[in-house]
Amino acid sequence: MKDSKDMNRRDFLIKTGTAAAGLGLASPAASLGLEEKTKAKKRIVLVGTGIRGTDMWGRDVLKNYGDVVEFVGLCDINSGRVQYAKEYIGANCPTFTNFDKMLQETKPDTVIVTTVDATHNEFIIKGLESGCDVITEKPMTTDEAKCQAILDAERKSGKKIIVTFNYRYSPHRQKLKEILMQKRIGEVTSCDFHWYLDTSHGADYFRRWHGQREKSGTLLVHKASHHFDLLNWWLESEPQEVFGYGALEFYGKNNEFRSEKCRGCEYKSKCKFFFDMTKDKRLMNLYADNEKYDNYFRDGCLWRNSINIFDKMAVQIKYANNVQVSYSLTTYSPYEGYRIAFNGTKGRLEAWIQERQPWPMEDYDQIRVTENFGKTELINVPHSGGGHGGGDTRMKDKIFKNPEAEDAYGQAAGTRDGAMAILLGIAARNSIDTGKPVKIADLTDLKPQPKRPV
Ligand SMILES: NC(=O)c1ccc[n+]([C@@H]2O[C@H](COP(=O)([O-])OP(=O)(O)OC[C@H]3O[C@@H](n4cnc5c(N)ncnc54)[C@H](O)[C@@H]3O)[C@@H](O)[C@H]2O)c1
Repeated sequence: MKDSKDMNRRDFLIKTGTAAAGLGLASPAASLGLEEKTKAKKRIVLVGTGIRGTDMWGRDVLKNYGDVVEFVGLCDINSGRVQYAKEYIGANCPTFTNFDKMLQETKPDTVIVTTVDATHNEFIIKGLESGCDVITEKPMTTDEAKCQAILDAERKSGKKIIVTFNYRYSPHRQKLKEILMQKRIGEVTSCDFHWYLDTSHGADYFRRWHGQREKSGTLLVHKASHHFDLLNWWLESEPQEVFGYGALEFYGKNNEFRSEKCRGCEYKSKCKFFFDMTKDKRLMNLYADNEKYDNYFRDGCLWRNSINIFDKMAVQIKYANNVQVSYSLTTYSPYEGYRIAFNGTKGRLEAWIQERQPWPMEDYDQIRVTENFGKTELINVPHSGGGHGGGDTRMKDKIFKNPEAEDAYGQAAGTRDGAMAILLGIAARNSIDTGKPVKIADLTDLKPQPKRPV
């Protein structure tokens, strides 16, 4: 299937440009003759040639979907990195440091946005205004004004934005969705959801731009938007009111010594978080070789005084369908994973997932379904290979191979889902700042619905 050049798939590709736009009109490509039709590939440009852009959305896309898409331009603010990216991806296309120039010269069908979070809005909006569909990494953007601007631009353009919520596609999370859809625990009334980032992965966010609120929107937006999206999707509803607590008590200013970066650090022998990136050729090529252009240090000190995000967060959410959620995010746990429980009118559904841990792992994740006054059942969901629990590949198959395939679990996400996920994080952040609950309806013109509109 991967490399199939069958007509159905070609047909769908030709169709997607307009089907996605929701106009019901024939796209320019659709009016081509059969011969040209079979040759047409989607013309893609990518902006933000960092780790996510070059692997997930660069090399992997070319390798696995190169028969249906082609890169016609790569862009990054860092001229060295974009040059390296071209070689790494193996793309035969020009590189740019100016996005507008790239759009003008390459006339793409689709823009893929994988830049720093707070810059997504610029490329999404310019892409739409140039008549392109857009695939954007999460979070869609980082504040409510930018979110509104994206919503307005999409409505005006008639083009389509895909927000890449890969977490929805992992088999374990899909199984939870299936059990909820079957109403095995009746109607859900409340949910406990607690996510633990470990001292490796969690710490990594504080080494880089994610530690700057103005770039990442804090981890309530950058990271928790994944989790908030899962909640919105699992609960099939939209968040209405949010209250949050958060603090920075571990990383950043909370240490007696600090440096600029790990390489050359005088505290290397006493810092438990010392990270030797020189052992990783890929990181050296991508980041260290190009830091002369922008001073972006991949091994930046996680004790920097300039870090201004929270490292522990607790959020209370009331959904439009009355479900109440208690959520928390911890960033310096000894192991990584999450714990979730849905309480329903007929029982309880719970799961405990460990993604990385210092002891041997089972090759499956468990789910427990317990009926009130009845039985309890343990369900084992085998691990599937690939990034983010197998979610990355399954999502890309849906986007590039077969977007018109049935979406039984409602995993495909657009701007409304993208907005609801970040608005929840933005509301929590605003609540922490003000000490008051925040209504989602006060942030943009989207009004939360008891049943999530599809
Ligand atoms: N869905 C997921 O699971 C997942 C995983 C990792 C990253 N991401 C997302 O992917 C995006 C990129 O993350 P990353 O880890 O690759 O970061 P990164 O720092 O490795 O790459 C970001 C790149 O964007 C470039 N950039 C920054 N501002 C720019 C601008 N104004 N114009 C052009 N280029 C600019 C930087 O130079 C850098 O090369 C982020 O939005 C992140 O949230 C998603």
